[in-house]
Amino acid sequence: MRTDKIKHSSNPQSRRFAFALPDDVYPKNYGATSVQRVYHRVTPAHFKGPPLFSYRHAFHAANHADVLKHSILVHILDYFNQKENPYWVIDTHAGAGIYDLSDEWATKNAEFADGLDRLLDADKHPALIERYLQSVQAFNPDGIANFYPGSPWLALQALREKDRLRLFELHPTEIDILKENLSLQDRATQKKTMVYEQDGFTGLKALLPPPTRRAITIIDPSYEDKADYRKTLQCVQDAMTRFPTGCYAIWYPLVQRREATELQRTFEKMKDCNWLNATLSVRKPPSDGFGLFGSGMFVINPPWTLHGDLAKALPWLAKQLALDERANFTLKQSASGTQPASNTKQAPEKKRDSGSKHASGTKHNSAAKHTSGARSVTGVKQASKTR
Ligand SMILES: C[S@@+](CC[C@H](N)C(=O)[O-])C[C@H]1O[C@@H](n2cnc3c(N)ncnc32)[C@H](O)[C@@H]1O
Repeated sequence: MRTDKIKHSSNPQSRRFAFALPDDVYPKNYGATSVQRVYHRVTPAHFKGPPLFSYRHAFHAANHADVLKHSILVHILDYFNQKENPYWVIDTHAGAGIYDLSDEWATKNAEFADGLDRLLDADKHPALIERYLQSVQAFNPDGIANFYPGSPWLALQALREKDRLRLFELHPTEIDILKENLSLQDRATQKKTMVYEQDGFTGLKALLPPPTRRAITIIDPSYEDKADYRKTLQCVQDAMTRFPTGCYAIWYPLVQRREATELQRTFEKMKDCNWLNATLSVRKPPSDGFGLFGSGMFVINPPWTLHGDLAKALPWLAKQLALDERANFTLKQSASGTQPASNTKQAPEKKRDSGSKHASGTKHNSAAKHTSGARSVTGVKQASKTR
């Protein structure tokens, strides 16, 4: 892996996208408004004093967890744009919005080296990943992957004039950067966006159901506080009573923690809704019991196309992002899932559970080549225990 080359924009060629940038990077037929490419850097210069939380997403931007989360988000946004009807995107944990991968924070652990950069290495990508890379590339017209869009900016890229974006963020510095970046956007973008300096778990209640009756809600806490597991579950359960037909995309960490296992288990017991659960592990669980070894996305009311695309993308991602021989993935959906069973794909190395729509897989040999010299993706760092 080229971790020696990618840390600084002084060697920008090393972070070049592997495929040609089409003129109309974002499909014009979706009518997405262009987002200005003027961003403030999320650097320590913005640090204003002791924050309420220590988590800063800038340290983790474009890592393997972002790859899983954002590739799924882009797919969902594309799906929503296939219909003319307007919709809302509600992001309960927005972060700073966009990140500079060449700055001090992102390069500190260079987590993108074992995330986004490993995708750039490949000549061919599964459709889900190709689309995700196109979205990232749209923010890097020079073809060098220095700017990385977080969930708010991926949403802004997709939203049409009639759609709306609602962002929650509690961190005093992150919200300042988010607002500042938004203030640099055009009027149309600002008009459709609202930022709330509020707890997203509770703030969501007031927005559901949205007037459009179509919405994607992204719930992406840092899980820095272990109460986040309980809050996430309560938030989802409450949201489902208010707006059961909404699409909910919930990120969660794979860590050796009872709360993390229980959250996943409880999610999968959800009745009366369609759900999809995808996990991606990049390494074996650390022997000290701490640290992130992968992550999952639980999607309620997913696009019916998502399962099929993930069935192709996850085995590829597990191989491409593997840090050791234990890298693997799982893909499950509720029995009432909308994806026809014939479209589910069995993972190469493991048999599917009989009778369930469940795939999982590990990639062994190919993983080894990434191990040497690769940086650990451990979540134990100055900013967080989980990411
Ligand atoms: C993982 S980051 C979000 C990343 C973002 N969703 C993305 O994909 O680009 C989590 C963010 O949630 C913020 N946060 C933590 N607790 C919160 C809460 N209760 N309500 C709103 N934001 C919160 C943190 O400050 C942090 O910026």
